[in-house]
Amino acid sequence: MDAVLTEEALERWGRRIGAEAHTPLVIALRGDLGAGKSTLARAVAHGAGVEGDVPSPTFNLVFRYDTPRGVQVQHLDLYRLEDPDEVWELGWQELGAPDELVLIEWPERAESLLPTPRWEVAIEDEGDPASRRVHARPVGDPPPLPAFDGGGA
Ligand SMILES: Nc1ncnc2c1ncn2[C@@H]1O[C@H](COP(=O)(O)OP(=O)(O)OP(=O)(O)O)[C@@H](O)[C@H]1O
Ligand SMILES: [Mg+2]
Repeated sequence: MDAVLTEEALERWGRRIGAEAHTPLVIALRGDLGAGKSTLARAVAHGAGVEGDVPSPTFNLVFRYDTPRGVQVQHLDLYRLEDPDEVWELGWQELGAPDELVLIEWPERAESLLPTPRWEVAIEDEGDPASRRVHARPVGDPPPLPAFDGGGA
C-alpha cells in the first residue's frame, strides 16, 4: 500500500488501525526525524482506546497502555538505543503477546531483532510540509491493516 496523506488522513488511518486491527500486531515505523512516526503511533493508540496524552517515549524508550477493549498498546522509540542488545531490558522477549499492539519507532536500531510477522510502515517527507508519502508492507503474515482512505491502497 502506498499513498500521499495529509496529517488528518494519516491520523484517520492510524485510528482505524487501532480500532480495527487484530492482535498480535507489530508495526515498525520508519522515517526521518519529524517524518510523522509519533503522529501515527499516537493515532493508533487513541484508536485502540488509549485516553489522554500519549507522550513521546524518547526518554523512556517504551510506554505501555491498557485499553478498554483489552488491547495492550506498547509504544517504543529506539532512537536512543546505543546497542541492539539493550532491547532485552525493555521486555522485548515478550513483545507480540496475543493481546498486544506494538509500535516501534526507529526500528533500525534493533534491525536484526525485529519480531516477525510485522508491518513495515515508512513515512517520507517529499517536500510538501502538510503531506507525507506512506508506504506499508507486510513481513511474514501479519493481520491485515485497513486500507488508506479513498482506496489508495
Ligand atoms: N501528513 C503528515 N503526517 C504526519 N505528520 C505531519 C504531516 N504533515 C505535517 N506533519 C507534522 O510533522 C511532524 C511529525 O512529527 P512526529 O513527532 O510525528 O515525527 P517523528 O517521525 O515521530 O519524529 P522523531 O524521529 O523525532 O520521533 C508534526 O509536527 C506534524 O504536525
Ligand atoms: Mg517520534
